[in-house]
Amino acid sequence: MKADKIYLVGFMGAGKSSVARALARRLDWRVEDIDAVIETRERADIPSIFRQHGEPYFRGVERAALIDLLPLRGTVVATGGGTFMDPRNRELMLRDGVVIWLDVPFSVVLDRVPLDGRRPLAADRGALEALYNQRRAAYQLAPVRVDAGRGPVDLLVDQIVDGLET
Ligand code: S3P
Repeated sequence: MKADKIYLVGFMGAGKSSVARALARRLDWRVEDIDAVIETRERADIPSIFRQHGEPYFRGVERAALIDLLPLRGTVVATGGGTFMDPRNRELMLRDGVVIWLDVPFSVVLDRVPLDGRRPLAADRGALEALYNQRRAAYQLAPVRVDAGRGPVDLLVDQIVDGLET
């Protein structure tokens, strides 16, 4: 596939941010992280945005951040775990670049995501697991799926780069 923009999607703890950084380094592309763009736009961290304004407001800022990044080419975008859930976001991303789902088993999510409120939607295990199961149907709409549950980031990057035509 010919690509000049890559979106990494997947659940919290899938490794989107670290894979995005390593992939951008390998391709000599730019890297952007939607969560970081949101925090810069709002001059607040994600837990405070959820706390002060609620999730619907957060989703609006998330969508605005995604739209801001649309003109960029030669860019790997690490999305937030919920970015690909909104059908309008999905449509934009699918049209704009190659969308890659980093798929990890729930056990890996539990290992990587502390249930400490730093991620507002990861406060308790039961709710997190329900969300994980519910979101899989949407992530499956990504044209590329990578098994990201095991192995070093560099191997994942090899796998992704091998499938790309840049
Ligand atoms: C969210 C995932 C988080 C962040 C916010 C909401 C979600 O990003 O955008 O806490 O809805 O899954 P990460 O997937 O980078 O943790």
